[in-house]
Amino acid sequence: MRIIFLGDVVGAPGRQGVVRTIPRIREERSPDLIVANGENIKHGSGITEELYRALRAAGVDGVTLGDHALRDRRIVPTLERADEPITIPFNLPARSPGQRILKLAPAAGSWQGTGVAVVTVLGRVFMNGPSDEPFGAIDRALERCPAAPGMARPIVIVEAHMEATAEKIALAHYLDGRVTAVVGSHTHVPTADARLLPRGTAFITDMGMCGPYDSVIGRDKEAVVTHMSAGLPTQFDVASGDVRVCGCQIDLDPLTGRAVAIERVEWGVG
Ligand SMILES: [Fe+2]
Ligand SMILES: [Fe+2]
Repeated sequence: MRIIFLGDVVGAPGRQGVVRTIPRIREERSPDLIVANGENIKHGSGITEELYRALRAAGVDGVTLGDHALRDRRIVPTLERADEPITIPFNLPARSPGQRILKLAPAAGSWQGTGVAVVTVLGRVFMNGPSDEPFGAIDRALERCPAAPGMARPIVIVEAHMEATAEKIALAHYLDGRVTAVVGSHTHVPTADARLLPRGTAFITDMGMCGPYDSVIGRDKEAVVTHMSAGLPTQFDVASGDVRVCGCQIDLDPLTGRAVAIERVEWGVG
């Protein structure tokens, strides 16, 4: 069974890149499921129902969010509908609206089983949000994702939406052998460390973003350079050049929940 997870989709360039690339992803990789993080799809921050629908129509089976999940409040009614495959991070405050575990079933016929759960957790290192600590949060999430009879572990993909590489790596080792994969997002820069950990959990520190790479993590480079070099308040528009669609491919054994392989994937869009 194969899952393609796409990193943070940034603005219109990222959305258009994903829309254009998914037919190619299907042709080249034949995934059973495609998941994408949509936290930056609305001009670089937040998501609306319309943009969520655009990702779904493009062929994204499930949408996760990060620290920008609730930036545009108009997404709240969508988040509150239990039948929509969109989630907020598991460790946001209890009163935050939205589902916290994305439960997905691959297309009929491709696999008969318990389904796949995707859980996003926010980090605490160098992040200022109201989230709870992620390690205990994932323990609580896993109590709600029992393995099917005979399986060593449930099919769970944990998205580590964190700033610090060390926090992501520590979480991955904490979960090694207990989930199928831990995949990093939020920093928007793909890392070259996709690997299987000793107990069979797949891991990558960061999948990278789907968006313009001629930028500073998706934003107009001139504006960010001006801001950082001169300390001038500046509006950070989404950049446009060198759009790429980045993520990872996770192959797993659906009978055991164990990852077989993980590979970083990237498509240029132009
Ligand atoms: Fe992001
Ligand atoms: Fe983020």
